Amino acid sequence: MTSQDATGKEDKLQRDLDYLMECLAEMFHGLGESRLASCLPKNGSVAPSEDCKFVRAWSVAFQLLGMAEENVAVQTRRALETSQGLVAEPGLWGRVLEKLSRSGVPEEEIAAMLGEIRVEPVLTAHPTEAKRASVLRHLRELYLLLVKRENTVWTPAERDEIREEIVAMLERLWRTSEVHLEKPKVLNELATIIYHLRDIFPQVIPILDRRICLAWREAGLKGELSLLTERLPCVSFSTWVGGDRDGHPLVTAEVTEATLRELRLNALMLLHGQLTTLGSRLSISRRLLAPPPELARRLDELKARTGAPGEEALRRNPEEPWRQMVNMMRARLPVEVTGDGEVLCGAEGSRYCRAAELEDDLRLLRDSLVARGAARLAAADVVPVLRSVEVFGFHLASLDVRQNSAFHDAALEQLMAAATGESGFSRWSEEERIAFLDRELASSRPFLLPGTKPGREAESVLSCYRVLAAHLASFGDAGLGSLIVSMTRGVSDLLVVYLLAREAGLAVRGTQGFACRLPVVPLFETIDDLEGSAAILERFLSHPVTRRTLAELNGESPVQQVMIGYSDSNKDGGIMASLWGLYRAQEAMLEVGRRVGVRLRFFHGRGGTISRGAGPTSRFLRGLPEGSAGGDLRLTEQGEVISQKYSNPLNAAYHLELLLAGTAGVSIPGRSEPGTGHPLEPVMDRLAHRSRCEYEKLLAREGFVTFFRQATPIDVIESSSIGSRPARRTDHATLADLRAIPWVFSWSQARYFLSGWYGIGSALEELMLEDAPLFAQFVRSTQSWTALHYIISNAATSIASADPAIMEAYAGLVHEEGLRKPILAAIHAEYRRTVRVLEEIYGGPLAERRPAVHVPLARRTDALRVLHERQIALLRQWRQEGMRQNRGMSEELLFRLLETVHAIAAGLGTTG
Ligand code: PGA
Repeated sequence: MTSQDATGKEDKLQRDLDYLMECLAEMFHGLGESRLASCLPKNGSVAPSEDCKFVRAWSVAFQLLGMAEENVAVQTRRALETSQGLVAEPGLWGRVLEKLSRSGVPEEEIAAMLGEIRVEPVLTAHPTEAKRASVLRHLRELYLLLVKRENTVWTPAERDEIREEIVAMLERLWRTSEVHLEKPKVLNELATIIYHLRDIFPQVIPILDRRICLAWREAGLKGELSLLTERLPCVSFSTWVGGDRDGHPLVTAEVTEATLRELRLNALMLLHGQLTTLGSRLSISRRLLAPPPELARRLDELKARTGAPGEEALRRNPEEPWRQMVNMMRARLPVEVTGDGEVLCGAEGSRYCRAAELEDDLRLLRDSLVARGAARLAAADVVPVLRSVEVFGFHLASLDVRQNSAFHDAALEQLMAAATGESGFSRWSEEERIAFLDRELASSRPFLLPGTKPGREAESVLSCYRVLAAHLASFGDAGLGSLIVSMTRGVSDLLVVYLLAREAGLAVRGTQGFACRLPVVPLFETIDDLEGSAAILERFLSHPVTRRTLAELNGESPVQQVMIGYSDSNKDGGIMASLWGLYRAQEAMLEVGRRVGVRLRFFHGRGGTISRGAGPTSRFLRGLPEGSAGGDLRLTEQGEVISQKYSNPLNAAYHLELLLAGTAGVSIPGRSEPGTGHPLEPVMDRLAHRSRCEYEKLLAREGFVTFFRQATPIDVIESSSIGSRPARRTDHATLADLRAIPWVFSWSQARYFLSGWYGIGSALEELMLEDAPLFAQFVRSTQSWTALHYIISNAATSIASADPAIMEAYAGLVHEEGLRKPILAAIHAEYRRTVRVLEEIYGGPLAERRPAVHVPLARRTDALRVLHERQIALLRQWRQEGMRQNRGMSEELLFRLLETVHAIAAGLGTTG
């Protein structure tokens, strides 16, 4: 971007922001709240009101700032694309295809490889979305008004009307409490996910398809890549909401069953709506265009099979055969839509059993139009519906089921106790466990007699698996994802799942023994588990039940999914050890996959902040080890990230295109096989180890947990009702048991952002002082080796959000000076070291070298400082001796504290 572009962008942002702040002030004046109008942050200066309502006013102001920034980013991308074409923006199809066109790979090969690209975001309800669903809805509408206002055709009266609508929307927002008073139910969280799946993503798929076709032409690639191409890169969606049972007792079998039902119903209603629109569009008269014989034949055939509903479908538009065909397809959907609502049906009569049958009919419809010279209509009208069926099927998104290995152990113990009276499985050594499991897995006979009640954990797992088995029997495997085992520590943790699946009827018998009906997927998430992952995987992939399962699921080309967790490894060992550990683990597992002839499909469990694995998408993909993406990417999109990236269709298209084009860019050609590795890898091993030691040393300091609990608002966060699941996996109040989200959330509220940078400074400084030439080589490699650049730039972004003065103010909440001083001194020293060494790498002050990160933060600095002061004062009051006895007062203070948490999160643009 030129400096002129940058200035233009800044000016537009300022204009939009001024406009929004004027609207907000107008709203406050209208409500007789002029004090609030005058305390709004303006041009960087802040003047808090005495009135505690200013916290909420600033929270709204921060949301408006975020919205204005988002809108400017979208408009800037569009302006750049208008002047420079699709190659303007890095990471998107324009650039990727341009590069491929110069690579010398034949065009047909590129087109064929593009058809294999697959990306699967997995939407989860990880409790990081601080905004209530009602607030999100208002913000979405407000954003649309902001965009509407940009149109230059409005008359002055119309512009006034838009302004009035904006002010009214702000009032709505102001009168809606931001604080969740009750925890949401899992099914409320599901509703948010379904909103995106049904209302946003279906609009986005055609945008993505059009853009790849345009980019293909713009890159000068010949041959056909058009909307009529049979295979375009494919996005599909999965979800964990209603299936993620890890530390979440409220995800019961009934919830899972209801989730599967809701997903199916909404998928069918989506298609019902799309077919209704398609029918009204294909009003092509047979007198003007004669249908080809295949269409007429298919109509006759369906008429004979469909009985009364089919006749009705034909009767309605006798002159319009294409429309009749669409009416027929709609009548065959397995859902009944009446004035009273919608009801799922079985596949009785001639209703479709599987989505593939509808796809076949849509292909016939498309081809019949093409055959009669109406290819434009086929591409504009039929293809988007066909793509919807390909992407969403009859299931909208597939549902993974996740459970913790310790829970599975307890379940198996109960089964063993009920069947044989044996006990102690969870205390056996790994070899004893495997020996037992191998013996058991050789047989297909379940443990229990029908009707036995083995105990809570066993019943919980089995009842969930039975729901999955029933779904498989009725609808096949579309809609079902994997059985994911969190905290996989040994191969026995995976084999246990086979036994549980056998018990619940989720297994098929073959001549050699049984296979599991769903893939069992390890989740390696701590640093030690990542280190052991390749050995575990090798043993797992060689196991006969796994081999049979992969053959059952994938036939001749076995694929094993492996999930890797970014948050727990980071909480364990800090950013460098985590990201490098993940890199090394992928390399080692890829090697295993090659050795045993199984393709690996990595599933990246990333959160929305750097400390939980986030980072710029394109750099993240380019920083993966060679061969890791393999044209097939699965990753979580969690909590607040979903609304930030996917709430408006244009932004959603941008983020999905980054994923698709980025995956294609690192997968074709030539990057599909692991290479020899970068020469600095051994140095990185050392640095990661050193960084981890430093981080662990801090956590092991005497009194560290007390420091953490007193210097951050962790207690407020634990009392908040963000998300349906508890903050801890079990009831133990240890650091190990605390989940990564509240850990990161509380450090960011107190502006430490500790796990995003701590440790890396010591490691790099040591290298700098001990081996200057190697350090110089390291610095040069940050430019050329993306894996390294990714780690360094993420640490630099995290430390930009940390603020030593604010850290110190929060540390003032720690009662014991003897504990506070040394810990704070250690953190400050590491902070200074990290900044110093990063400045060395970036060649100057970070604020100057990285304006894209620092300028938006600077816009918020003063207002945030005031909010932090307020939060600290409230924490002090709330934690006072005896306060808990005064229930009313304590609740009121907690509510005020939660408001500060929301306002600070809105300012930082992140929770945890
Ligand atoms: P989990 O996720 O706690 O669900 O394992 C970790 C995270 O995303 O922070």
